[in-house]
Amino acid sequence: MFIKRNRSWSLKEHQATDEQVYLNRRSFLRGSSLLIGGASLSLAGCNMDSAASDSAITQSASTSDFKDPTLDLYPAKRNPTYIIKRDITPEEVNAAYNNFYEFGSHKQIAKAAQSLKTRPWTVKIDGLVEEEMELDIDVLVRSMVLEERLYRHRCVEAWSMTIPWTGFAFADLVKKAKPLSKAKYIRMETFHDPSVASGQKQSWYPWPYVEGVSIEEAMNELAFLVTGAYGKPAAKQFGAPLRLALPWKYGFKSIKSITRFTFTDKRPVSFWEQLAPGEYGFWANVNPEVRHPRWSQATEQVLGTNERIPTQFFNGYGEQVAHLYKELGKREILYR
Ligand code: MTE
Repeated sequence: MFIKRNRSWSLKEHQATDEQVYLNRRSFLRGSSLLIGGASLSLAGCNMDSAASDSAITQSASTSDFKDPTLDLYPAKRNPTYIIKRDITPEEVNAAYNNFYEFGSHKQIAKAAQSLKTRPWTVKIDGLVEEEMELDIDVLVRSMVLEERLYRHRCVEAWSMTIPWTGFAFADLVKKAKPLSKAKYIRMETFHDPSVASGQKQSWYPWPYVEGVSIEEAMNELAFLVTGAYGKPAAKQFGAPLRLALPWKYGFKSIKSITRFTFTDKRPVSFWEQLAPGEYGFWANVNPEVRHPRWSQATEQVLGTNERIPTQFFNGYGEQVAHLYKELGKREILYR
């Protein structure tokens, strides 16, 4: 979509950051080397040499002055069904390397994301449901049973992490919503406020960020609505106060900072699908055999390590989800 440009006016990282922080950070970035096909192409331009805000690396909702009203619910009990044989990605690696275009089209958005006000926060449930509702996030979270799950997270840009998410089953929200039988899909939307999210001033993007799933996908046991990570309420850069985790799909499906769930009979067109339908399809299931038009999906860089490993079909979750797609061909599993 976009090609990296090193701007002459941008500071080199070592000029902007404390040396030790810089060296640590470079070592995981080197490990993560997002140079795809020799060029720094990514979902939309990851400028590794931009002046990054390293002070924000470990900043999270729980370390700022703000006291999360659901803090007492953490850490939640780990669900042993979702333990995986990979090391957990260190929090400081994850917290300093994020896609959240509302705050910039590069990975070092952590500091900018702290301007997001996550309370008060309401979540609207509307469309083809028995009764539309608008729920206060704390009321919603307290009405659910929180648990911790270790999930793989595979970005379409060919990097991956392993994350201890806390949250609740998407199926429980669907049950609460009581969809009508005509409802086939759920369209989700992120907040829209260019006064706090300067990325939303970039009018060439179709704000707000939108994603969609079929109701069967939302009801699948793996579909998880995330409220926390690393045993505490989610840091803002992770998509506080409510984001999705669909570990068998490319990461862009996992919409952050959700404000609305609309039940509909029409297949939603996502943010990325609007921008580049040939690159980011609706289903977007992880598929090592279908190339992104500009790079291979056969392997992935494990962030925080020097490892590049083979990518697995459905990101290793075929047992739980393959039946959802048995009507689709291999390519359709990704695009259609
Ligand atoms: N949600 C919103 N609202 N805005 C975004 O830019 N980026 C997506 C997804 N959800 C994005 C979003 C992409 S491309 C990825 S890979 C994941 O969030 C990144 O999640 P992470 O930063 O927690 O790794």
